[in-house]
Amino acid sequence: MSRKFHVYGNWKMHNNVAASRALAQAVVDATAAARDRVVTGMAPVFLSLAAVRDTVPAHPHLKVLAQNGYPAPKGAFTGEVSFALIQDLGCDGVILGHSERRQIFGETDAFIAQKVQAALAAGLEVVFCVGETLEEREAGRTWEVVGRQIDAVLPGVAPAARARLIVAYEPVWAIGTGRTATPAQAQEVHKLIRDRVVELWDAAGAAELIIQYGGSVKAENAAELFACPDIDGGLVGGAALDAAGFAKIIAAAAAVLR
Ligand code: PGA
Repeated sequence: MSRKFHVYGNWKMHNNVAASRALAQAVVDATAAARDRVVTGMAPVFLSLAAVRDTVPAHPHLKVLAQNGYPAPKGAFTGEVSFALIQDLGCDGVILGHSERRQIFGETDAFIAQKVQAALAAGLEVVFCVGETLEEREAGRTWEVVGRQIDAVLPGVAPAARARLIVAYEPVWAIGTGRTATPAQAQEVHKLIRDRVVELWDAAGAAELIIQYGGSVKAENAAELFACPDIDGGLVGGAALDAAGFAKIIAAAAAVLR
């Protein structure tokens, strides 16, 4: 199995331009030792993307990502940013389908599918997030929900774009709550996702698909999560805002032998 660990920081609506630049530089410095083993990503707010792009050296294992985008190429969409504009800035990718977009901004599976197609068509990498709420998990509906989210998007991804799609499994009840899924809970869903991708794509595509876990990943729990065979890294929120702590998560990934 040759999947590299991918550990990305989702900075959400934190940090002004100066603070974003400083955090990006600190992450680049603190993760240098792991650079050949772990793909590291940073997703600042739109307004800081240019500064972070300037700060992060061009390297295949260092990625700068936006946190959103709009599926039309251009036009009268006041306040929106197209994927072509994100790509033009030199960004590598974009996070889509995050539970905060789904829950706070009402994004549907169909709209997220449109966004994923448009972002991939613009040449970007996509971190496509899925995950169930606590209510759904407790009602035994985890796979019904996550499977539906996967089925809404993955069949439409053209074979040539598949290598640019990352899936992030982020149980909503674990995001920002300090309550992490146990490695067994996360591994179970990651395996279900990979098995489904065998059916939707093929065995080779499923074997190469990077599936990140997200939801209260921190230095203290990263190693046990990354030891799971179908967990290929993390999408990290709160713990990515501190370069030293984030570097420990990257180091935990670098220490896993695959
Ligand atoms: P968290 O956020 O690490 O703060 O739980 C993860 C995410 O929302 O991507």
